[in-house]
Amino acid sequence: MSSIELERLRSENTVLRSQLADLQQRLIQSEKMSSVGTLASSITHEFNNILMTVINYAKMGLRHKQPAVRDKAFDRILSSGQRAAKITTGLLSYVRNRSDRKDILSLKQIVQDVLVLVEKDLAIHRVRLDLQVTSEPFASVNAAQLQQVLLNLIINARQAMDNGGTLTVSVGAGAEPGIAEITIRDTGCGIPADQLPRIFDRFYTTKTADAQGQGGTGLGLALCKDVIESHQGRIRVESGLGKGTAFILKLPAIAPPAMLLTGAPPSQKAG
Ligand SMILES: Nc1ncnc2c1ncn2[C@@H]1O[C@H](COP(=O)(O)OP(=O)(O)O)[C@@H](O)[C@H]1O
Ligand SMILES: [Mg+2]
Repeated sequence: MSSIELERLRSENTVLRSQLADLQQRLIQSEKMSSVGTLASSITHEFNNILMTVINYAKMGLRHKQPAVRDKAFDRILSSGQRAAKITTGLLSYVRNRSDRKDILSLKQIVQDVLVLVEKDLAIHRVRLDLQVTSEPFASVNAAQLQQVLLNLIINARQAMDNGGTLTVSVGAGAEPGIAEITIRDTGCGIPADQLPRIFDRFYTTKTADAQGQGGTGLGLALCKDVIESHQGRIRVESGLGKGTAFILKLPAIAPPAMLLTGAPPSQKAG
């Protein structure tokens, strides 16, 4: 092969690699928007409820002149407003963050931020949420990417529990020293043993898009695996047909930054 030809192949290779990186980035973004799409209707419901609370307490405050009643009305309006702000801030930081930056963050905090976004969706589908925090591990993570992993796993779990059930999310120190664990466990349909080896494959899906056009890309778990491995972690699945499924995430734990130990509130908004 001539050196000119070799040079040409090299530069072609570089172009293809950068195109691949670009496409992967877009895939991540579109998978992200697909989880947001799944949550859109429940979040809209939630906002409607919040607005009804605000409107009703504002009316009550206007009607009743007693200071105690007005204080109560203001209290309710304030806490409803704060809840709405928490949801929008969470959603915006999740959608906007495209950087690769990793920060030392509390896994418990990240889990809680994701649960704010899915609570209503779970309730609508009669799924009870059980959060178990056994300790507060820290790890070096990209918050938006880890949130995306958790959202994918939680939406999968919810979709596996057609007739309702229980979603258990646990956070804590794992059995192995220096390893933090997050587990997402459902009481859903389970995965047949012969399908288990394939579920992390790109485009492997057993779903057809539902009424909202959600699910069925087969990209969710492939993405979860990529993200966890890029964090030097591991993802494992245990499943019993008709009993349920658990996805276990293991991440290298890191001592919390000194500033957090001195009582400053943990900040996990990256970027
Ligand atoms: N919690 C779960 N319970 C049962 N099956 C699951 C669960 N999570 C994933 N699966 C199976 O793995 C497949 C791949 O999941 P995923 O990669 O997220 O793609 P998608 O959700 O688009 O189908 C699903 O189609 C489903 O068959
Ligand atoms: Mg999925």
